[in-house]
Amino acid sequence: AAASAAAVDPFGIVVDEVQAVSERLRHSVVSNVPALKLAADYYFRPGVQGKRLRPTLLLLLASALSGRPPGGAGAADWAAPDLRPPHEPPAEPRRRAQRVAEIAETIHVASLLHDDVIDDASTRRGVLSLNASVGNKLAILAGDFLLARASVTLASLRDHEVTELMSRVLENLVSGEVMQMTAGEEALGSLDHYMTKTFCKTASLMANSARCVAIVAGAPPAARDAAWEYGRHLGLAFQIVDDILDITGSSSVLGKPALNDMRAGIATAPVLLAAREQPALLPLIRRKFKGAGDVAAAVELVAAGSGVAAARALAAEHAAIAAAQVRALQPAACAHAQLCSEALVSITQRVLTRSK
Ligand code: FPP
Ligand code: MG
Ligand code: MG
Repeated sequence: AAASAAAVDPFGIVVDEVQAVSERLRHSVVSNVPALKLAADYYFRPGVQGKRLRPTLLLLLASALSGRPPGGAGAADWAAPDLRPPHEPPAEPRRRAQRVAEIAETIHVASLLHDDVIDDASTRRGVLSLNASVGNKLAILAGDFLLARASVTLASLRDHEVTELMSRVLENLVSGEVMQMTAGEEALGSLDHYMTKTFCKTASLMANSARCVAIVAGAPPAARDAAWEYGRHLGLAFQIVDDILDITGSSSVLGKPALNDMRAGIATAPVLLAAREQPALLPLIRRKFKGAGDVAAAVELVAAGSGVAAARALAAEHAAIAAAQVRALQPAACAHAQLCSEALVSITQRVLTRSK
């Protein structure tokens, strides 16, 4: 399965449906206040929509669990053949999975709008960040507006468990950001603190939205748990790689500032792991790289040791656990479900090798 998973293009399988979700997202950002619509619409414009990793993996998961391509019949009768013509609107479970994907992407973009204000970032997705373009106040309100839109869509699903899980994500996002912002000397050097924060900042959205997709697909409890664990471990791997790229990548490839974390006083996995063999890093971490030449000195110390390699190994461990969750699912109900399972495994490999 590992060999075939590498050959699968996960983004290609659901590209049309992700496009449809994006279209709906754009159209859902309506407001009678022109400046608000323009601001909230900013990262939904063609060309700046990002990798759309979350909708992609959520729709693949929906297919892996229900066993039929979009437009197919419901998950209630797993083995029934799909006899309806392809132009028919999606069946109810599929429509609900698409809504979860929409909600997850909207929350993600809202968190980026707020994050760029907090980080004072001037670029995002290769363009001027919204805060740099319209100012902090409007950028924050645009993020709030997106959260409001996501809440309306969430309420329309009329599923209390889904509402609770996605609300928990918002709680985690804010907690993670504040944990990062207020960490004391002890916490700054702690890998445990980093992992907890990383779950809150990144993995919670993937874990909980994945569970929501399993719920709306009518999947059994074991599959719901596996979906949550998949999202959690994929999210952890994804963020660890993100933090490696912040150190090893260039701003032009990333489309956002490099060395952002250290400049903001944050020590991430590669630095924390490097500090285990290079104790000289510890005082720099504790003073948030604020001394003259600290960032350059830390980059050099990290480059000289095996911190980046250790962080890659840690990301690979989490990616492997995520892949194992998918492999442990019930046998796929049809060939398409099997393909989507392989695509989910393939995503766990791709997060490790990405360059942006
Ligand atoms: C990106 O991290 C930031 C996040 C994943 C979460 C940010 C959360 C908040 C700002 C709390 C507010 C939450 C909501 C729901 C509005 P990063 O700065 O490490 O990554 P970057 O390099 O992409 O900027
Ligand atoms: Mg940031
Ligand atoms: Mg940030």
